Amino acid sequence: MPLLPHLTDPAQVLIAGASQGIGLALCRLLLERGDVARVWAVSRQASRSAALQVLADRYGPRVIRLDCDARDESALAAVAAAVTEHSAHLNLVVCTLGILHQQGARAEKSLAQLDLAGLQATFNSNAFAPILLLKHLLPLLRKHPATFAALSARVGSIDDNHLGGWYSYRASKAALNQLLRSASIELKRLNPQATVLSLHPGTTDTALSAPFQSNVPAEQLFTPAYTAQRLLERIAEHGPEDSGSFWAWDGQRIEW
Ligand SMILES: NC(=O)c1ccc[n+]([C@@H]2O[C@H](COP(=O)([O-])OP(=O)(O)OC[C@H]3O[C@@H](n4cnc5c(N)ncnc54)[C@H](OP(=O)(O)O)[C@@H]3O)[C@@H](O)[C@H]2O)c1
Repeated sequence: MPLLPHLTDPAQVLIAGASQGIGLALCRLLLERGDVARVWAVSRQASRSAALQVLADRYGPRVIRLDCDARDESALAAVAAAVTEHSAHLNLVVCTLGILHQQGARAEKSLAQLDLAGLQATFNSNAFAPILLLKHLLPLLRKHPATFAALSARVGSIDDNHLGGWYSYRASKAALNQLLRSASIELKRLNPQATVLSLHPGTTDTALSAPFQSNVPAEQLFTPAYTAQRLLERIAEHGPEDSGSFWAWDGQRIEW
């Protein structure tokens, strides 16, 4: 299966959130593929990630690690400049960065647990950083088949919210979905071969989900490798005609 619909050349790929979890698993899978020319592995600790070091030792110049805090626009501009040194375009960007209970974010159970700092921390990472990443990478996505996919979450669906709680996280993913939808409309005009997708990875055994796994049945808790494989399948099957849509790991469309 080709990496993207209509892509024939070896792909230039960037993963933001690459040092661990689902992003790292995506890097591993992508580098195993013959149709991927290069992977830029971006995160705050990319150069200090032992797992990314293993990939760098194995794949040499096919993997380039870039340290970047995606909440910092000057760091995002530096990433775009670093990519441009090697390639005039990217074919696939997957933004996997996100927080739930880290870096000032809180998985609130009630209104009483909400505070401005937690809301802002969550929105900064989950909604604002991914769309600013797209802003800075846009010049690299204006020709050729190009997909920008960001990991959202089913709990960001407003129609699907029957349990409440996780105020900041749910709202930040809903905001991310709306930002991506707007971007999909703008990108249609700039590059008819571009696709913007919101993807729900399913509950996956990572640092992000670790404190919340006790009630998850074992068969519903995926390994990062399994999730990464399912996400690449979704990316491969949705081209420009599906731009601005929201999909789960298993191919089901998610209501907004
Ligand atoms: N795991 C799940 O069950 C689950 C379910 C639904 C949705 N999701 C979504 O899937 C995505 C990936 O989750 P995960 O479970 O793989 O999380 P994770 O294991 O915590 O990994 C998050 C990655 O994002 C990077 N990151 C965080 N903040 C960053 C920033 N400001 N700038 C650059 N990189 C940053 C981290 O690396 P550094 O520390 O090196 O920066 C790390 O590589 C998230 O958006 C999450 O909301 C996950």
